[in-house]
Amino acid sequence: MGAIIALSPAIADKSPYLSWGRGKFDPRLHAFDGKRFIPLNSPTLPVVIPPAYGLQGVGFETFTGDGPLSYWNNYVGVTEMGGHGDFIDQRIGLRIIQRPDLVASKLPALLAYQLSLPKPPPPAGSFDATSAARGEALFMGVARCSTCHIPPTYTDVLSGPNPNVPFLHTAAETGVDPHYATRSATRMYRTTPLRGLWQHPPYFHDGSASDLPAVVNHYNTVLPLWLTSEEKTDLVEFLKTL
Ligand code: HEC
Repeated sequence: MGAIIALSPAIADKSPYLSWGRGKFDPRLHAFDGKRFIPLNSPTLPVVIPPAYGLQGVGFETFTGDGPLSYWNNYVGVTEMGGHGDFIDQRIGLRIIQRPDLVASKLPALLAYQLSLPKPPPPAGSFDATSAARGEALFMGVARCSTCHIPPTYTDVLSGPNPNVPFLHTAAETGVDPHYATRSATRMYRTTPLRGLWQHPPYFHDGSASDLPAVVNHYNTVLPLWLTSEEKTDLVEFLKTL
């Protein structure tokens, strides 16, 4: 994405965009109000572009749970892609009003389409079923994953007392980098839903885990879990099935 944006003659300083790398985007660098760029944060801090499928029933679909999917569609459509419309969120100090609003009326159909996209099934033969069954027992048990990644959505973001308020976590709870969250409206991280996980490395908002063994090693150290190497393998095999 950054390499494409850097092709624009309207971009004077191309270095932030060229630093993002493959599959990443920084939605908190600046906003566009139809006339000019509004600087939001510096230096740039790109995040992995999350999958668009398997979002049925998830709720508060972004890394920091700022709002429902249509909130984010509107944010990206207006502030990042230059769509002609309104975006107002006092939590991040943004108030962009462009009449007529040509974006809002498109949001319900876009949402319906996104929610219709199923997760891709794991390829035949891509995991060991016996090992994965042991891994599932670990995920639901001693590895404590399901305390936050609650099936069938594999997130707990809707598990709070009020369905209109996302249930979130501090960066320290999972040992991830706190900086991106501090630039968001909630300043916290939402438990990532895990559907179709096998299909989209790297993992965590900043891509700091390059593959599934790296994810398991991360939790093994941070929580900590004291898993044996066979248990780690079993957990990875289970994650490949989601
Ligand atoms: C305290 C709650 C909590 C627990 C316990 C927990 N997670 Fe997470 N998980 C999160 C949060 C929050 C994130 C988002 C972190 C980020 O993006 O930086 C996350 C992200 C992930 C991701 C990255 C998904 C992606 O698409 O990038 C994977 C994979 C994952 N967790 C697997 C596990 C496994 C396996 C366990 C058990 C060993 C586990 N989690 C335990 C809250 C938790």
